[in-house]
Amino acid sequence: MANAVETPLTDCGQVTARPPLPPEKLGALSRDILALKRQLNAVILAHNYQVPEIQDLADYVGDSLGLSQQAAHTRADVIVFCGVHFMAETAKILNPKKRVILPDQDAGCSLEESCPPAKLAALQATNPKFYTISYINCSAGVKALSDVICTSGNAVKIVNAAPPDRDLLFVPDENLGAWVREQTGRPMTLWPGNCYAHVEFTHASIMRVRREYPDAPVVAHPECTRAVRLLANEICSTEKMVTYCQRSPAQTIIIATEAGMLHRLKKECPGKQFIAAPTDSCRCNECKFMKLNTLEKLYDCLANQNPRIELSETIMNRARIPITRMLEISARPNA
Ligand code: 13P
Ligand code: SF4
Repeated sequence: MANAVETPLTDCGQVTARPPLPPEKLGALSRDILALKRQLNAVILAHNYQVPEIQDLADYVGDSLGLSQQAAHTRADVIVFCGVHFMAETAKILNPKKRVILPDQDAGCSLEESCPPAKLAALQATNPKFYTISYINCSAGVKALSDVICTSGNAVKIVNAAPPDRDLLFVPDENLGAWVREQTGRPMTLWPGNCYAHVEFTHASIMRVRREYPDAPVVAHPECTRAVRLLANEICSTEKMVTYCQRSPAQTIIIATEAGMLHRLKKECPGKQFIAAPTDSCRCNECKFMKLNTLEKLYDCLANQNPRIELSETIMNRARIPITRMLEISARPNA
């Protein structure tokens, strides 16, 4: 056991940044993780919001779309998913015979919580013409009720590909849904859910940071509210933020998403300055779920091959259909 230390919380229930591990401990733990990974023929997939130590030793770091594409093609026997629960579930659905483990099984998501499958089924029953497009941030049970899945990286393409004669129902993020509706012009019924962390950015908090850095463009995630999106120079998924920032001539860029993103951006764009957009509350630009994963828990989950994702065959077989449809549409050349 690496003696996983619980991550402390602030007054408003947020996870606080833990002090960095001493270099000797970091080095030893990283070596042990890589040795276990080789022994198990495992692959470590990490989301862009993971703590720097995890990003630095992962085999792949990216957004939800990139991670699901990696999961669909991996030859590893064990998938270690450093992200949140719905991401690990997606990897399991795509690899039902493989072992999928995650450092902390309590790493949930407020969007997933907002949309219980039974409530969705009740809404679907009110209109037989509904075509359900579910943001990947939802449970396997919701995926199993969906026609197609999308991520923030491909949502516009997925909605554009939806059958023209159906009534579109977009779940569970009302902010991403509203942005996609503006981009595509397709009317959609939106589920009333949101990301508790992204809605903490406000018009006032972004105006404040813009005044401080008047020449810096603002890059925002589409989970932000419209009031924030209106102030952004670019709205995109976390992976597209990397390409935008690499191509931008700006030397200083304001990032309105979970603050873990800055580690990846600093690595990919050396020499540029990134400013984490503030919220109106303390540390609320960190996702308390993403930050549950630590290097010690990563070691423990590899050593114990637990916690692991277990899902019923029926749910997996049904949920794989809309995920595969998403991957197929996403791979089509852009019109
Ligand atoms: P991305 O797919 O853009 O990385 O977004 C995932 C997420 O959970 C954002 O909060
Ligand atoms: Fe869910 Fe928001 Fe955390 Fe992303 S940042 S995992 S949407 S709670």
